Amino acid sequence: SEFYALVPAAGFGARMGNELPKQYLDLAGRPMIWHALSTLCANPNIRTVFVVLAPDDGYFARYDWSHCAGKLAPLYCGGKTRAESVENGLLASELDADDWVLVHDAARPCLSAHLLARMIAELRDDPVGGILAVPVADTLKRADAQQRIAHTEPREGLWQAQTPQMFRAGLLAQALARSNNVTDDASAIEALGLQPKLVASDTSNFKVTYPQDIVLAELLLRQENN
Ligand code: CTP
Ligand code: MG
Repeated sequence: SEFYALVPAAGFGARMGNELPKQYLDLAGRPMIWHALSTLCANPNIRTVFVVLAPDDGYFARYDWSHCAGKLAPLYCGGKTRAESVENGLLASELDADDWVLVHDAARPCLSAHLLARMIAELRDDPVGGILAVPVADTLKRADAQQRIAHTEPREGLWQAQTPQMFRAGLLAQALARSNNVTDDASAIEALGLQPKLVASDTSNFKVTYPQDIVLAELLLRQENN
């Protein structure tokens, strides 16, 4: 079996509140999506990086992707939700059922080459697959209907899911076809009764969601390139 990446990049970035979809916002001199795609393409284990774009995306093709050395495969089949985009992309990619696929958000530009390599090494012989994640750092409150604190959730053993999320392509396609409204790929696998592995990551691999996230992402990316 081989390793592939699939990058959902068909969102609008509503919470970012910009007219330009957030994956194309400038980040350290490049469109946001450039960073994760470059890191994925540079990994020697990954054969092809499929990018799932909105059917009417007019931005992706404007950039020069020659440094990705023919590894990039844009697919104009994004759906209404992230899960739909991943599901459509998997179908269009025509991967073999036992190929590994690493699903990674275009909106996580600070994924390090080192974490990516470590994840592949840790999961390549795993029967299920797994995800990058970090232990929850904040204290968590459960709200009642009046928005008063019902109780404090013990945060021990709680992790925040990140991407990449790495599964066999056939299993993931099946899992997504059966599930609805999942916000990550692992949830669909969990619904089959399987238990993906948590691979310890770090908080620099956060998802750029709000305008203030741009500042930190730029800082981290400029640091890495120096
Ligand atoms: N995504 C996608 N197709 C969708 C929705 C999201 O491919 N219909 C992608 C986004 O482009 C992003 C990733 O899934 O790379 C994570 O989603 P999120 O951070 O929520 O991005 P958006 O949905 O674009 O942002 P928002 O929820 O604020 O609108
Ligand atoms: Mg979204």
